[in-house]
Amino acid sequence: MKGIKIRGIGRQVPNHIVTNDDMARIVDTNDEWITTRTGIRHRHHCTVENHTDLCVGAARAALERANVTPDQIGACIVATVTAENQVPSAACMLQRELELPEDIPCFDLNAACTGFLFALHTMECLLNASPRKYGLVIGADVLSRIINWSDRGTCILFGDGAGAAIVECREEWPSIGAVLGARGDDSILQVPGIGTPAEPVVRMEGTKVFKFAVETVPRCMDQVLARHGITPMEVDFFVFHQANTRIVDLIAKKYAIPQEKYYTNLDEYGNTSAASIPLVLSELEEQGKIGPGKRILTVGFGGGLTWGGALIQFA
Ligand code: UT7
Repeated sequence: MKGIKIRGIGRQVPNHIVTNDDMARIVDTNDEWITTRTGIRHRHHCTVENHTDLCVGAARAALERANVTPDQIGACIVATVTAENQVPSAACMLQRELELPEDIPCFDLNAACTGFLFALHTMECLLNASPRKYGLVIGADVLSRIINWSDRGTCILFGDGAGAAIVECREEWPSIGAVLGARGDDSILQVPGIGTPAEPVVRMEGTKVFKFAVETVPRCMDQVLARHGITPMEVDFFVFHQANTRIVDLIAKKYAIPQEKYYTNLDEYGNTSAASIPLVLSELEEQGKIGPGKRILTVGFGGGLTWGGALIQFA
């Protein structure tokens, strides 16, 4: 099997910033509680922009950094739970906006906050069977559209954003060796859809999801390390789904990961669901902390329930 590496990464977030003090004007909360319990200080919410704008902005930035043109793309996957429309998919809208070739698969994928990793793995499989070698993988969500504004336990958590990766597939590169999992469970995290009478807003039992995360991430991490035959010491950077700094810090402590080898951007963006991992990758790449030659272990988890991990490299 041929493997993929990231050739270019880009991001787009909406301009409008919502502070913790802004949240305190909507629900009974305060900056101190939100900061200490989650690490979040701001989140960016769409006002004038929409989901397609974020996807297009992130994709254009990634194409430019990769020095790849839209006609070279062999498949496009958008991981999301908040596309503008059920049909056409966000990926089909991108085909139009970016003028991607018409003879390639473009589709959306729903694995909630684990979506970007599910999409990377799916892209690796697709490119193995494609005559074209580049793929466009996007994680994008506009969770501000599905927030329950009367639930202080969830509404303070979420932000909007998109991260895009241009990946390249080559015979001589190793597979990202993704470890993915799913367990159907609508009891602790759910967004109702077509056919249910409930409002289509996020419903989450935070403490139970927190417990799921701290149990699942290490198991998934161990599986990725075993699959690649490496130890945590041999990993250059760890990128975790950004749901809560307490979750990230607990995992880092468990594996004795030094501060300079992991990163959080929750203070600025909050939890951006499928966009969370590519947003981190994009910021780290821009800061020169990751790039060619570095091994990046990434782990995500979220609704479904879903989880996943992979060892990512840049070309
Ligand atoms: O990306 C998808 C995956 N999602 C996650 O991974 C989320 C994981 N869960 C979490 O991050 C945390 O569970 C939360 C941040 C959502 C909640 O933190 P917690 O420490 O689990 O708090 P809690 O829900 O147990 O609530 C503790 C107290 C409660 O008050 P009482 O019953 O002790 O009086 C809540 O009513 O904090 C109260 N509370 C708040 N207080 C002020 C809950 N939300 C707020 C708030 N401001 N926004």
